[in-house]
Amino acid sequence: MKYFPVDDAHTIPALGLGTWKSGKGEVGGAVAEALKIGYRHIDCAPIYGNEQEVGGVLTAAMRTGQVTREELWITSKLWNNAHAKKHVRPALEKTLRELQLDYLDLFLIHWPVHFQANIMFPRRPEEFLAEDAIPIGETWQAMERLVEKGLCRYIGVCNFNLRRLRELKNQAGIQPLMNQVERHPYLQQVHLVDYCKTEQVLLTAYSPLGSADRSASLKKADEPSLLDHPVILQTAEKHHAKPAQVLLAWGLAEGTLVIPKSVNPSRLRENYLAADLLLHDSDLRAIHALERAYRFVDGAFFGSPGSPYSVAGLWDEE
Ligand code: A2P
Repeated sequence: MKYFPVDDAHTIPALGLGTWKSGKGEVGGAVAEALKIGYRHIDCAPIYGNEQEVGGVLTAAMRTGQVTREELWITSKLWNNAHAKKHVRPALEKTLRELQLDYLDLFLIHWPVHFQANIMFPRRPEEFLAEDAIPIGETWQAMERLVEKGLCRYIGVCNFNLRRLRELKNQAGIQPLMNQVERHPYLQQVHLVDYCKTEQVLLTAYSPLGSADRSASLKKADEPSLLDHPVILQTAEKHHAKPAQVLLAWGLAEGTLVIPKSVNPSRLRENYLAADLLLHDSDLRAIHALERAYRFVDGAFFGSPGSPYSVAGLWDEE
């Protein structure tokens, strides 16, 4: 496994297990299998609805001595209904209870979008709060307190575009360790990746395989397939590898973390072994040419009629 340095004391496994879309009754098996294979980085969130089952498996693995807490890197996220200062710590404490952990390695603000407290997903316009209703500085200061209290080691964000990440960094006391965003050959985010490298923010690529298992309501009719693109297929054939391994090895070669989701034992193993696949410069160049600024997860689900959010507003500048 490839590791990225985090600071003088810690490293993070560059390939982790994604748990978005892994249902109750299947996520536990996937995490157990992943730990057996060697995964040590698990990416979670309360909105995935499965943290309790993940926690049961992590606890069992630590109890039997299969892994120690120190060997694990566990990430979770702050949902959109808990951005107000007073809600941040209780939200983390709930996640810690579900995951049966004393601390998280990394706690991320999931989206730059606010909901009213207790609303999991707004059905009416008034259940959203405008972006300026809770300044990022307020949420971030509450996140910083969590680090000081030892409830998480590092803090960061997800789905922040360059402008929002820069604004946050300008006012942060504790700097964000991570920005987790959609990234794959169709959405390479070169400006954001360059900025993160320069500013020493790690970047995790979610949906690195194109997240084909999203529910129909989250998909567009004419989505392009990543796993079937001829360049990906040819590169896989050349290296006697699988298309998914090419996509993941590309992300790792570009210095980003990747968190592929799978609940299938052979695909979990296949994905894990992608960290050993070394692509050639010519492969990287060919994959670079696949850029088409295509988002599978564009946030349109936050843009219902009357909402203060829109796809254009989420991603604005690039
Ligand atoms: P499954 O869970 O049945 O393995 P993403 O990580 O981009 O969200 O993509 C997840 C989707 O990709 C899921 O449908 C998952 O199915 C599938 N998937 C995961 N690993 C592989 C693989 N190695 N080859 C093909 N599809 C995969």
